[in-house]
Amino acid sequence: MHVIRIQLVVCMQIFAIFIVGTESQCPSPCHCHGDLQHVICDNVGLKKIPRITEATRLVNLQRNNLGMLPTGGFSEMKGLVSLHLQHCQIREIATQAFKGLKKLIYLYLSNNEISTIKSGAFEDLTELTYLYMDGNQISSLSKGIFSPMINLFILQLDNNKIRDLQAGTFAGAKDLRWLHISNNELRSMQPGSLDEVENLATLTLDQNKLSTYPSEAMSKLRVVEELNLSKNPLTFIPDYAFRSFGRYIEKLHLNGMGLEKFSNAAFEGVTALRYLHLENNKLKSLPSNLVFTNMQNLTLFNNPWSCTCNLANLRKWMDSSRHRPDAICASPPSQKGKQVRDSTAFSKCKMKKDKKGARH
Ligand SMILES: *[C@@H]1O[C@H](CO)[C@@H](O)[C@H](O)[C@H]1NC(C)=O
Ligand SMILES: *[C@@H]1O[C@H](CO)[C@@H](O)[C@H](O)[C@H]1NC(C)=O
Repeated sequence: MHVIRIQLVVCMQIFAIFIVGTESQCPSPCHCHGDLQHVICDNVGLKKIPRITEATRLVNLQRNNLGMLPTGGFSEMKGLVSLHLQHCQIREIATQAFKGLKKLIYLYLSNNEISTIKSGAFEDLTELTYLYMDGNQISSLSKGIFSPMINLFILQLDNNKIRDLQAGTFAGAKDLRWLHISNNELRSMQPGSLDEVENLATLTLDQNKLSTYPSEAMSKLRVVEELNLSKNPLTFIPDYAFRSFGRYIEKLHLNGMGLEKFSNAAFEGVTALRYLHLENNKLKSLPSNLVFTNMQNLTLFNNPWSCTCNLANLRKWMDSSRHRPDAICASPPSQKGKQVRDSTAFSKCKMKKDKKGARH
């Protein structure tokens, strides 16, 4: 009798272990840590999304051939905070692909082949803060596609094929601070396309095809600290280009653009500039309202500078600065080939400040 009872208890224990075991099993080719809190399935030949429980916080599915993300494919994983889907040959994201992921904060979709994002694809991602979609084939973003993401802070879209930004593209993403759209095919940014993300601090638009400065699209931005427009075929920067965020802009990259001219009030309102990169352009002069007070790093090389009194403010800054960047005069003939910092062309220039002082 005693023996039978012991056998029964053992039997029940084994049965219990079996039940608990299936409930919290690590999906077959994956490995798991910390009571299934982390499920790691990196490069294990998965063809579809494995079954993962609500207890899991982080899922790494990198380097599996998933092809597409279907509706509700993660809907059982309600506790997920971080989802890694890089290098999964994903081409399409279905509507409600992330259904139920109301706690997700990090979503990594870099280096896939995403060309289609169905409307409503990002529904339920209200806590999402970091979204990485660089290295895909995205050519357009439909209006309001990011609208569930009221907490989005960083949006990484480098190395895609985006051609245009339409009004309302970022509707709802009112907390966005970092927007990266380098190396795309942007030819235009429609008025209103950035109106909802007025708190942007960093905007990278380098290596696109913008041939006119997107004044209207930028006009609602208030606190941009860094703007990168390098390597766009922009020849002219108009009046008031940076004015709406003039007290904040510290780093401005305008190098390698074929830039020929700043309009005279281009830097109107810009007071905090510390880094200005202008190398590899076709600039002859700088506008008179460029303020050098905070300038720390100015790059000017490979431009055909005209060493006349137009550059007197620049020379004055060079004389007082520890950094004396390379800038070679292309004209007038008497100065050709000389460094701005050594040229004698400025000795007789009247400084703006002196004139003002004289009136007192
Ligand atoms: C700005 O763009 C240039 C050209 O693409 C790139 O080399 C540089 O790293 C970028 N800098 C920043 C700070 O984004
Ligand atoms: C100035 O910027 C250039 C190009 O970004 C960089 O290589 C250099 O180290 C910077 N210099 C200083 C003094 O910050």
